[in-house]
Amino acid sequence: MKFEGRDIISIRDFTREEIDYILETARIMEPIARKGSDILKGKILATLFFEPSTRTRLSFETAMIKLGGSTIGFAEAEIASVRKGENLVDTIRTVEKYADVIALRHPLEGAARLAAEVAEVPIINGGSGAEEHPTQAMLDLYTIQKEKGCIDGLKIALLGDLRYGRTVHSLAYALSNYDVELYLVSPDALRMRREVLEEIRGRIPVKETSNINDVINDVDVLYVTRIQKERFPDVAEYMKVKGSYRVGLETLEKVKNGLIILHPLPRTDEIAPEVDATPYAKYFQQVWNGIVTRMALLALILGAVN
Ligand code: NCD
Repeated sequence: MKFEGRDIISIRDFTREEIDYILETARIMEPIARKGSDILKGKILATLFFEPSTRTRLSFETAMIKLGGSTIGFAEAEIASVRKGENLVDTIRTVEKYADVIALRHPLEGAARLAAEVAEVPIINGGSGAEEHPTQAMLDLYTIQKEKGCIDGLKIALLGDLRYGRTVHSLAYALSNYDVELYLVSPDALRMRREVLEEIRGRIPVKETSNINDVINDVDVLYVTRIQKERFPDVAEYMKVKGSYRVGLETLEKVKNGLIILHPLPRTDEIAPEVDATPYAKYFQQVWNGIVTRMALLALILGAVN
């Protein structure tokens, strides 16, 4: 298995063996994340974020700092030269002279792939439009494995905006490497993208429904996402689905004991705040897991561990 110098553009570029190896490396990073280390001393991560972000950008930066490296970048494309009309290719060709690795978030699908084609340094896709968010899927898998002991054998529901949500696209592809049953729960207008559905259906059992109550008592993992309001081509379409699902204490009355509820965050109104105090809620643990997973990825692609 070779990770050094690799781009992370789509979760589909990784085999199950490679994903398992990344999860194993993330586990090794747990004590290092608490103590700090200098294995990436002298290395620079650039974070180029053309869309809003809290966790993805800050956890990449935190991961780099905990490994002894440094970070540069921008979170407001408005203040970078992009505002003057610079195109993405020129921006990448410039930043790669400064940095050893670049994490990029961009509103356009295909942007990360394009960046990887022109860059000499590895590109990590921190979200490409509604398409994919591969490092989120890796930290989601890491969280499932850590909380449930293993991924194989589980029944997993993805609830919410399966059409425009990029995290659920990457996660569905990732889960199709494992022996899981998947329930896709969404309003009709926000059903899973056809191309994702077609690919995963050939690999694992998948059932679609529009009502979480149909499946909630059967599942081991409930992964909730917000409606991606900003990606709707038309506000009227958004208004039709706004508030159409919400997980509250009443949803959880008869669930399995070891159920875990995950969410990539940010949350809007799809999980009631009362749920946070239940033993099921693991979405803030997920945030920590994002640090160790990204530490593993940075260390692997920069060749500091193998
Ligand atoms: C997600 C994203 O940006 O796709 N957030 C994240 O990276 N944790 C989910 C979202 O914005 O709903």
